[in-house]
Amino acid sequence: MNQKNFNDQIFNQITAAAKIIRAGGVVAFPTETVYGLGADAFNPNAVEKIFELKQRPSFDPLIVHICSTTQLNLVCEETDERLFLLAEKFWPGPLTIVVNKNKNVPDIVTSGLKTVGIRYPSHPIAAELIKQANTPIAAPSANKFGRVSPTSADHVRKYFPKLDYIIDGGKSSVGIESTIIKLNPEGFEILRHGIVTREEIEKIIPYSAEAKVNLNIAAPGMMKSHYSPAKQFYILSDKILKKINLKESGLISFTGLYDSDFKRVVKLTENKNLRKAAVNLFSAIHTLEESDVNIIVAEPVPEEGIGIAIMDRLRKATYNSMRNLEP
Ligand code: TXA
Ligand code: MG
Repeated sequence: MNQKNFNDQIFNQITAAAKIIRAGGVVAFPTETVYGLGADAFNPNAVEKIFELKQRPSFDPLIVHICSTTQLNLVCEETDERLFLLAEKFWPGPLTIVVNKNKNVPDIVTSGLKTVGIRYPSHPIAAELIKQANTPIAAPSANKFGRVSPTSADHVRKYFPKLDYIIDGGKSSVGIESTIIKLNPEGFEILRHGIVTREEIEKIIPYSAEAKVNLNIAAPGMMKSHYSPAKQFYILSDKILKKINLKESGLISFTGLYDSDFKRVVKLTENKNLRKAAVNLFSAIHTLEESDVNIIVAEPVPEEGIGIAIMDRLRKATYNSMRNLEP
């Protein structure tokens, strides 16, 4: 990757952002999944700023982003051949792999865990930023803790109006966060579903088990309510259609069948394409959060392939509202 791959303006922004990272600051940057809030993974004070900005509990570990497979040895001591097979197939791209960390990775990054989640993003701006910063970058999604992830620079500004630096790389092309897997002796577990599906990974190594939701372990990506929108949020069902006032509500539409019933509609896809639905999901939530509706309703999608990741996000987004809904 060199300067030729970017226009001057973006290249200068990357260079400025890399300088901030090297100086111990925090910047927001685009990745193919969602925008990240990044700091030098080897600088505990810099990483602490991320937790403060996000109001993120210290028990929720960060993913470390690298820009080549050769950087793996900076953050882990893994010699497991399966890691390299996965890296060859899925990196750069939206797959995070949790492996044993090495001693250089500060405890604050991994919330004291012995493992670290590693991702090599395919977004050219992210890769160039890591390269120029000359260090792996620890980065969560660039939203306040518990809120919906940002898929554009505007979404990031909504959460962090005073942030020093945001590189604007346009809309994220994947739109939901990376798939997270953990290797174990038998195979792999899925800690978070994404557009890299179980079936694709199974072609490389055997699937071992769905990781159990456990609120005590340090993996809040698995917490039941993790993506709370600022408004009431429901998955469309007969019961919900009866209970709420549709003329006050916004619909995140998948089939188009219910569009005419609602006050506002944001379509995820014209042809029930799950990949497109994933790309547009978070921006649809952001749009309706900012609109004049009081309630957001999302149509369910078929729970297969990428649909599993979409339904996972929708269920987490509804969790608080469902608890408050009268029986
Ligand atoms: O697509 C993505 O993964 C985005 C972009 C910016 O790369 N990042 C992202 O980070 O979604 P974050 O922090 O919002 O979600 C990462 C999840 C957290 O829920 C965290 O608990 C889990 O990854 N995680 C990180 N390290 C872990 C580890 N060592 N073991 C288990 N879970 C881990
Ligand atoms: Mg997040």
